[in-house]
Amino acid sequence: MTSIIDDLTSIVSGAFEECGYDRDLGAVSVSDRLDLCQFQCNGAFAGAKQYKKAPFMIADEVVQKISKNEIFKFVEMVKPGFINITLKDEVLLKKAKEIAIDVNLGIPQAEKSETIVLDYGGPNVAKPLHIGHLRSAIIGESLKRIARAMGNKVISDVHLGDWGLQIGLVIAELSERNPDWVCFSPDFDPVKDKVNPIDVDELNEIYPFASQKSKSNEAFKEKARTVTAKLQSGHKGYIAVWKEIMRVSVKDLKENYKRLYVDFDLWYGESDANEYVDELIEILNKKGLMYESEGAMVVDVEEETDKAPVPPVIVKKSDNSNIYATTDLATIIQRERDFSPDRIWYVVDKRQGLHLTQVFRCARKAGIVPESTELAHLAIGTMNGKDGKPYKTRDGGVMRLSDLINTVVEAAYEKMSDENFYTKEEKREAAQKVAVAAVKFGDLSNHIQKDYIFDIDKFLSFEGKTGTYLIYTVTRINSILRNLGVNNDEPAIFNGVYSDIERELLLNIILSGEAFKHALSERAPSVICDNAYRLASLFSTFYHDNHIMGETDKNKQSNWLSLCILVRKLLIKHLDVLGIKAVERM
Ligand code: ARG
Repeated sequence: MTSIIDDLTSIVSGAFEECGYDRDLGAVSVSDRLDLCQFQCNGAFAGAKQYKKAPFMIADEVVQKISKNEIFKFVEMVKPGFINITLKDEVLLKKAKEIAIDVNLGIPQAEKSETIVLDYGGPNVAKPLHIGHLRSAIIGESLKRIARAMGNKVISDVHLGDWGLQIGLVIAELSERNPDWVCFSPDFDPVKDKVNPIDVDELNEIYPFASQKSKSNEAFKEKARTVTAKLQSGHKGYIAVWKEIMRVSVKDLKENYKRLYVDFDLWYGESDANEYVDELIEILNKKGLMYESEGAMVVDVEEETDKAPVPPVIVKKSDNSNIYATTDLATIIQRERDFSPDRIWYVVDKRQGLHLTQVFRCARKAGIVPESTELAHLAIGTMNGKDGKPYKTRDGGVMRLSDLINTVVEAAYEKMSDENFYTKEEKREAAQKVAVAAVKFGDLSNHIQKDYIFDIDKFLSFEGKTGTYLIYTVTRINSILRNLGVNNDEPAIFNGVYSDIERELLLNIILSGEAFKHALSERAPSVICDNAYRLASLFSTFYHDNHIMGETDKNKQSNWLSLCILVRKLLIKHLDVLGIKAVERM
């Protein structure tokens, strides 16, 4: 189905054209003065310059052409040259009916479906997920869902950090603690010999320990570096322990992401790009882009217009180990080969901006992606504590993601109603959904680049712009429908507009598709948050002003119930693309 903005733009553009003006002047947008009109077109101002005519004269001519169109309640020229438009109620009702039966609920579908590889999450194997990984997971998951809801093909890749020095540190430490392990013996045989099992708690303890140790112990640090290089060149024993570390770590990561309703199509890691590294180096060599500098192989990526220095990107170190940039570049080759994507989006901390700039420029110079493929760093800000600094545990440590989720679930459980409409089990389950809603909405309602302050009390509030309030609004609609014995899926009967607030609500319903469009083009889930909140607040006013349950006029009541059903569906859709699950009652 077409959007109302497109419908109106087409009518007004046609009129501009008929009057001998450029069609493109006819773009219609939502009015920024809803008290005056619902939509506006300001094209006459641009036209005035082009055609050397007063804007009000152009606007007047255009209005004359369309004033007879029966969809308008009024269309008028307002000096100095605005075109103000308000639609007849029947038009709003008809559009709402179309949305109610549309499988996509009026969310515009891409004319040409794009393939987007979305790189988010980026956890490092052997380290527990900590809150530094939260934003990328939340935002990436939401962008994936928004793009899919609009008919695009999105491939999500967790892109594990599974191949760098952190693995070398863990393996080096394991080898010092367990020198007798068969995988550390020179005649280890991967076919015959069994690897000693590692458990997740040990793994979680060992990385911080080894990392600390490497800071004061130069010999250990050197050992970890050697282990890393040997691992990357296929040392059998190290590969075997590495696989065990991966098994344990990935299982733990999957459980944690699952609690956040975050899921990935691909569980590839940096290691999977290893087989493309030779090809990368060959391309860089052939094109004469690579040269030696201080023992490393580097590629220049500086550009004339750079305001800050962009140093050469290092693709090989003197010990022949690959580094972060190498794997990111090789991964681009892999993605191009597997999916030939239209876009590759990296939902990564803004502090990695320089790294990704270097990688993208090198990829362009090397020609490993077509010019038309977008490579974009969707840079994200930090989640801070109330002190304005990156969120920490009470004793100043890095907080584990699982601890954070547990804390919020506990707090949500405490805040939820004690009425016995659910068992303890059901209440727990609902508390988990509320907690995720609170955390995700608290995050996504900010622009992705902005830092924000994590505030459980605020996020869990039943009032204001919170995920909790949105879920709560859905439960209120549920209870109206339940009490009146109305099915969630009953056919929509929009038969009239009985109050101003309904008109406003209808208009917002009809314009929700626009929010999806903007959210995707601006890569901004916050646009969805804003629209969901507007819908919910308008609904709350509508609910407050009208007594749906007690209404005796059946026409009115069924119209209102249709509104309830449609708002509920739309809210759930908005929540769904934010990665939030609604609950039946709370
Ligand atoms: N593992 C990296 C880190 O923790 C993040 C990976 C981001 N994605 C990427 N393709 N570089 O810093």
